Parts: sequence; structure tokens; C-alpha cells
Amino acid sequence: MRTAFLLIAFAALAAAQPELYSPLKQITSSNASRLTKAWQFDSGDEFKGSEIQCRPLVIDGVLYATTPKLRVVALDGASGKQLWSFDPFFGKPVTSKQRSRGFMHWNGRLYFGAGHQLFAIDRKTGQLVTEFGDNGRVDLRQGLGRDPETQRLQMTSPGVVYNDLLIVGFLTSEGLPSSPGDIRAFDARTGKLRWSFHTIPHPGEPGHDTWPADGWKTLGGANSWPGMAVDQKRGLVFVPTGSAAFDFYGGNRPGDNLYANSLIALNAATGKHVWHFQFVKHDVWDRDLPTAPVLVSVKRNGRTIDAVAQCTKSGHVFVFNRETGESLFPLETVKTPPSPADGEQLSPTQTLPLQPAPFARQQLTEEMLTRRTPEAHADALKRFRTYRSGPQFTPPSFEGTVIFPGFDGGAEWGGQAYDPETGMLYINSNEMAWILRLVPQGDGTRKSTAAQLYSRHCSSCHREDRKGTPPEFPALLNLEGKNVEEVIRKGAGRMPGFAFLGDAGVKALTGFLRTGDNKEIELPAPRQSASVQLKYRTDGYNKFLDADGYPAIAPPWGTLNALNVNTGQYAWQIPFGEFPDLAAKGMRNTGTENYGGGVVTAGGLLFIGATNHDRKFHVFDKSTGKLLWETTLPAGGNATPVVYEVKGKQYVAIAAGGGKSGAPSGGSYVAFALP
Ligand code: HEC
Repeated sequence: MRTAFLLIAFAALAAAQPELYSPLKQITSSNASRLTKAWQFDSGDEFKGSEIQCRPLVIDGVLYATTPKLRVVALDGASGKQLWSFDPFFGKPVTSKQRSRGFMHWNGRLYFGAGHQLFAIDRKTGQLVTEFGDNGRVDLRQGLGRDPETQRLQMTSPGVVYNDLLIVGFLTSEGLPSSPGDIRAFDARTGKLRWSFHTIPHPGEPGHDTWPADGWKTLGGANSWPGMAVDQKRGLVFVPTGSAAFDFYGGNRPGDNLYANSLIALNAATGKHVWHFQFVKHDVWDRDLPTAPVLVSVKRNGRTIDAVAQCTKSGHVFVFNRETGESLFPLETVKTPPSPADGEQLSPTQTLPLQPAPFARQQLTEEMLTRRTPEAHADALKRFRTYRSGPQFTPPSFEGTVIFPGFDGGAEWGGQAYDPETGMLYINSNEMAWILRLVPQGDGTRKSTAAQLYSRHCSSCHREDRKGTPPEFPALLNLEGKNVEEVIRKGAGRMPGFAFLGDAGVKALTGFLRTGDNKEIELPAPRQSASVQLKYRTDGYNKFLDADGYPAIAPPWGTLNALNVNTGQYAWQIPFGEFPDLAAKGMRNTGTENYGGGVVTAGGLLFIGATNHDRKFHVFDKSTGKLLWETTLPAGGNATPVVYEVKGKQYVAIAAGGGKSGAPSGGSYVAFALP
């Protein structure tokens, strides 16, 4: 009886979303300074521009993780020795950036996303579970009500397990064409689809009237890519969604666009809508919800309210009653200005929380520009005066609108650690300004040169000068050895496919990119349905940087924040990360961009890597924010660590994958413990 009970309890625990809290307390604030490297595993899979965003999963002393090429490796948690490895691409060379942020676990099986496939493997052997889907995998492009072959999506974050259901979302293209962001539950045993929730509602479903009547057939996005949270006891899953595609101009999608940019509470067993909150109506700022929500409990007037906290790219924390969706802090309605773009109907109002205070600055002004050097300041000031800078929801403009915090937050995908003992939520944040500029499309005549095609369809991501914004949007200057034609035709990752340009169009673009040959071609007849010929594009994903490549604003450029969810007050807020070259010149504690979250422990610590440029892994005192210990990783620790125990010894392990903001890539996992 007793064993059976324990087994059931363990299964429930293992199925829960990996919490960013650990009850372990062998490592404490008094001994953390004695941490040493326990082991390092080098996958050898890194390549130029690669990253590792995976948070490992540890079960029974075995650590499961993915490499930059998304090989799954099982490592002995005490020694780092490889037990087995599984390649979801079956030997096919991997040359483009891959993301898979972790695993779901059910009944001895591991589930993870690689490209558009959801895989099931046996955690003991690393072999495909043949009873699941088509010989161990489910093609997520199927069942969206569109031609599967033309869908471009990747399952970048694990979903959640509820009973025998795997509830998942995916990343899709942020330009059109793009897939509809259906939230789906698959049978964990067989891979069969059990329910779908349409984030772009079909006729007859609530919210359908917030889109053009036929939008559900052709529009895309409103997808959930950063992960979810599930309340096992209540049977509720909380799903954060992103923008509708195209991210920056919505003239073809008038309306609020429910359930884009929303936190949706669904009945986990059936997929039925319970409540939702929309953070941005009719988004044209790329304000995806960038991180999984966090299950928290809030103490109010002697009562404890189970709640769900959602952090945003704009630097806000919203806290809702899990059952009713009611906000536990006051909200305000703000009036927002209209768009200068033809055909764009922005919502006249948006909603922001009055409390907690935002964890990032909200509006860039002249006083906030860089003072790193007089030249950098003068240059930043000159450019800043040409831009439009206002509060949140200042519309995209032709002169360039300052988006602050930028397209990468504020909060990002690493997630926020929550300490149930103290009610403290740990939020690491970017604090960079980006410039969003609208550019009218070409006039859409039937004849076109390759260069015109490039500027119309490609420059909003790869930029007019083809330098892109690596690593997210690669440069297209040296494409030797790449299958350019196939990428253009079929798309890749966040890039949509361009087969609709016809064979001549695709070939002309390929020639243009390879040799600069600016051929004139006849375009195929415009497609009837998709709204790919929008009136505007943007000139790229541009960070507001100075001439030396540092942020053109005054620090902090990244922060770490401890928020008490009971009071809505911050216990501490510190700059997070450094540029080693600036630190060497005495410019310290600037904070930098950072990706990947932290884990808080009962031992009084916050473990976090995340900072892009200094490659540091940090241990902070969770109650004061005092740095207790740090070490330099082989590459940036841009992922969330895992804290675990093997044979009575506590370890913390993190991926060192680098590759962010142009930093070198790595392919290692490193574990630390007391000697
Ligand atoms: C919505 C943004 C977006 C648009 C529009 C876009 N791309 Fe891309 N492109 C990307 C991203 C992101 C990648 C990297 C994909 C990956 O591997 O994850 C990429 C990759 C590529 C690559 C492969 C580069 C390499 O080094 O492997 C080529 C070639 C390319 N794009 C060409 C084009 C062309 C030509 C167009 C216009 C017809 C275009 N792209 C439009 C986002 C975009």
C-alpha cells in the first residue's frame, strides 16, 4: 500500500511543470563561496550562431539535455558521463539555429520538440517510443486546417503534462504567411489529437468578431511559444500567446485580435475557455507574452489566494486569481494615440497595472541617453531627436518609434523563479531600446527586379544592407555552402516560405544573394487569399546602439529584480551583467542583455547564468541580492539551470551555449557542487 501510494505521488510530481524552486539546502549562503566544478560535458555540437536554450530535466540522478544540434543526451548527474544520445534529425546536417527549451515527462517517456515534430523517447534507452504518433513522433503541421506542407512552425518550449495529455503550442512565422496558433492536447500514449483551442476563433466561437470574418482561414500567429503553467489540482492550464502576424502592421486584421497577446485559462481536460486577459489589443509592437506564467499564492487580509503571475516584454507583472481571472492589483486604462499608417486602426485604449511598479524603465528621454563618451552621447542625441519616443503603445512610425524596453523584453523566455516560502518572484530583465520604423512597400507592379523583391519581402528581417541582426536574423552576405533556394522556397524558423514568388522569383533572389545579379522577372499572378502584400514593412529589428556597438542609452542595460507578490513591492533590484571590455576600463555594473532564468532554493540562494557578454554563472543571496559566488562558463549560460541531488549531494547544472548578441557559441553543460 505504502509503495503504491509513493509511486502515485511521485508520478504526479514528475508530471508537474518543472518548478524554478528547489527544496534543497546543502548549498547555502555560508558555503556557496566554496562551490567548484563537479563536471563538464562537451557535446562538440556547437557551430557559428548556435545556442543552447535547454533547461535540463533530472530524474533519478540522470540529467537529460539537448545540444546545439538538438541531440538529446542522457548524462550521469554525478559524473557528467554520457549514457546515451538521440538525434532527432537522424544524421542530417544541422546548419541553422535550433531551439528546444526542455522536456515533458510522463510514464518513463521524454517528450520534446525538434523543428515541427514532437518526439517521444524512452528515458532509459533513448529509443523512439513507436506506439506514439508516427513511429515516435507527431508532425505538428498536421491538423491546423491548412495545407500541412506549407506550415512553418517549431515547438521551441515544452508544454505541460496534465493526466495523460501533452498540452503544447509552437513558434511560427512573424510575417505572413504564418500558421494559426492553435493550442493542442495530444494523447501522451498514442500521440492522437485530443483537443484544439483556436486562438484565432472560427465562425461561431467567441472572439471571432475581433478579426475579419475570413481571417481564421488565412491569418496566423497568436501562438504560444514560451511554455505554459498547469494547476494540477484545479485542472486549469494557463497559456500565454503572442502577436498576430504580421507583427508590425495590422491593416489587414482590424479588431482586437483575440486571443493574441493574451493569457488564456483553459480547462486542461477539454480545452474549453475558462477566462482570458488580453494584454495588448491589436498588437503592432511585437509584444508577445515572452515567458511562461508562474503559479503563485498571494496573502491578502489573512487569506491566501492562489494566483498566476504573468511578466511581459514591457516590464510589467500582472497577477490574476487563478479561478476567476480577476487582477489582484489595480489596473488602469490608458488612452493611446492613432497610427500614422494607412488603414491601421489601433485600439484607442490599452490596459496597464498600477502596481507592482514596472521592473524596467518605460519611456526613453534625452536625459537617459548614453554618457559613455561625449562622442557617443552626441551621436545618440542626434539620432534620438529624429525618432518618435513616448509612453508604451506609441504607434510604429515612418521616422522610427523607440520601443523601450525592446522587442526582447523586459522579461524573456528563461522564466521567473518563485519562492513559495517567501512569496518572492525573481525576474531578470533586458533594458534595451529598439527602433521600429515602418516603410511603405513597393508599388506591387507585375514586373520586378531581384533587388526590389529583396527590399519588399526580405529587408524587414535581413535589413536593406543584408547584414541582418545576427544571430536571430542572419546576415545574407556570405551564403557559400547554404541551400539558399530551398530556404527561400520553404522558409526556416521564424522566416516564412516564399514559394508564392514562383520559380522565377525564388531563382532571381537566389542569384541576387549569391552574385548580386539584379535580374528583372515577371511575377506570378497575385494570390487570392493571403494578405502577404501588406502596405507596409519595417526596416529590420534594430537595437538603438552607439557607434561602438554599446547600447545608446544610459545603464542599466539589464537587471535582476526580487518582487514580493504579496505586497507588490521590490525587495531588491540590481544591475545584472557586464561587458568585460567596459568593466576592464572601469565601467562596471552596467547590466547587459540576458536570456535564461534562475532557480531559487530553500538553502537561501538564487542560481542564475543568463548574462550574454561576461559568460558568468552567479549565485546570489536570495533575500538581499548580494553576489556570493560567480564563475566564468565556457560560453554564455543563456538557459535556466537545474538544481538536483544525487546520492545525498546537491548539484546545479547549466547549459553554456552562448551565441546571443553575437557572443561566441558553445556546446557544453557544466555542473557545480561543494567539494
Ligand atoms: C519574418 C522575418 C524574415 C523574413 C521576411 C525573411 N527572412 Fe530569411 N531568415 C529569417 C530567419 C529568422 C532566418 C534564420 C532561420 C533559422 O534557421 O532559424 C532566416 C534565414 C535565411 C537564410 C539562411 C541563412 C543562413 O545563413 O543559413 C536565407 C538564405 C534567407 N533567410 C533568405 C531570405 C530571403 C531571400 C528573404 C525574402 C524573400 C527572407 N529571407 C525573408 C527571417 C526572415
